[in-house]
Amino acid sequence: MLWTLLLLPLLLLVVSGTQTTQPCFPGCQCEVETFGLFDSFSLTRVDCSGLGPHIVPVPIPLDTAHLDLSSNRLERVNESVLAGPGYTTLAGLDLSRNLLTSISPTAFSRLRYLESLDLSHNGLAALPAESFTSSPLSDVNLSHNRLQEVSVSAFTTHSQARALHVDLSHNLIHRLVPQPAGAGLPAPAIQSLNLAWNRLRAVPDLRDLPLRYLSLDGNPLATVGRGAFKGLAGLTHLSLASLQGVPQLAPHGFSELPGLQVLDLSGNPKLKWAGTEVFSGLGSLQELDLSGTGLVPLPEVLLHHLPALQSVSVGQGTRCRRLVREGAYPRQPGSSPRVALHCGDTQESVARGPDIL
Ligand SMILES: *[C@@H]1O[C@H](CO)[C@@H](O)[C@H](O)[C@H]1NC(C)=O
Ligand SMILES: *[C@@H]1O[C@H](CO)[C@@H](O)[C@H](O)[C@H]1NC(C)=O
Repeated sequence: MLWTLLLLPLLLLVVSGTQTTQPCFPGCQCEVETFGLFDSFSLTRVDCSGLGPHIVPVPIPLDTAHLDLSSNRLERVNESVLAGPGYTTLAGLDLSRNLLTSISPTAFSRLRYLESLDLSHNGLAALPAESFTSSPLSDVNLSHNRLQEVSVSAFTTHSQARALHVDLSHNLIHRLVPQPAGAGLPAPAIQSLNLAWNRLRAVPDLRDLPLRYLSLDGNPLATVGRGAFKGLAGLTHLSLASLQGVPQLAPHGFSELPGLQVLDLSGNPKLKWAGTEVFSGLGSLQELDLSGTGLVPLPEVLLHHLPALQSVSVGQGTRCRRLVREGAYPRQPGSSPRVALHCGDTQESVARGPDIL
C-alpha cells in the first residue's frame, strides 16, 4: 500500500501537464505546457490571432510547437514570413480566417516538422503543385476557400509513411486532377478526404490513393455508375448525403468497394435507384443510412446482397437492426438461422417495435 502512496504524486507529475505563460512578442500569448518527470519536456503554444497583418513575420520562442496566426487579414504568405528560429520545429500552424488568395509554392518549405496546417476560411483559388512536399503533414484543412481545380499531386509529401487527412469541403471544386501516370512520384498518402459541398458532377478518379474515408456530401453528382469507385478497395466509410439534383444509383455502382463498412445516403429525397442490385458487391457493409430518401427496400433482398449488414436507417428516424432467429434447438443439420431486419423508432427502444420492414 505504502508504495502506491509514494508513487501517486510522481504519477500525477508524469501524467498531467502544467501550464504557465511566458514572455512573448507584444500582443501574442505564449503558453508553455510542461510534461514529464521534473517538467523535462515542454511545448509552447503561441497565439497571435486577431492582431492584424503587421504581425508577420513574428518572432517566436525556440520551442514553439503550435502557432496561431488566424484572423489577421493576411494577404500573402511566403517562406520569408514563415522563417526564423522556432519555425523549423513547428508542428502546428493555423492560418485560418485570413485573406489569402494564393500561396507561394515554397511558403512552407522550411517547416520540416509541420504536421497540422489550417488554411480554412481564406480565398485560395489555386494550390501550387507540391506545395506541401517538405513537411510531414498529417492534417491539412483547406475548407471554405475558392478552389476550383485541385491536383492530387499537391499533397505529395516526402514522408510517405504518415496518413494524411485532407479537408477540401465548401470550395468550388469541379475537377480533381489525378496524379499523372508515370510521373515517378509516389501517390500521396491521403487516408481521409472531405470533398463535401463542392461542384463535382461525377465521382472523381481517386484510384491509387489509400483512402479509407471519403465524403462527397452536397455535390451535384448526377449518377453513381458502374466502376465509379474503381481502385478504392480500402475504403471503409463513404458519405453521399444531401446530394444536389436528382442523383441516380446504377446497378453495381458500389461493386468496387468490398471493404466498405458504412454507407450514408441520407437526405436525398429525389434519389433514384435501379433496385437492390445497386448494393451488390458490398460484402462488408454493416451500416446503411437511407433516412430521408424515400427508399424502402425489401429486407430479404437487401440482406441477400448485404450479408454483413447490422443496421439500416430508413424514413424519418426509423432504424432497423439485424436479428438472427434461431430455429428449433438443437438446430437441424443443414438448416441456417433465420435472419430478419427488426425496425423501430430511434427515439424509442429499437427492441420494442414489432413491425418488420
Ligand atoms: C514575402 O511577403 C512579404 C509581404 O507579405 C513581402 O514583403 C516579401 O517581399 C515577400 N518575399 C518574397 C521572397 O517573395
Ligand atoms: C476545418 O476547418 C473548418 C472551419 O474552420 C472546421 O469546421 C472543420 O472541422 C475543420 N476540419 C477538420 C477535419 O478538422
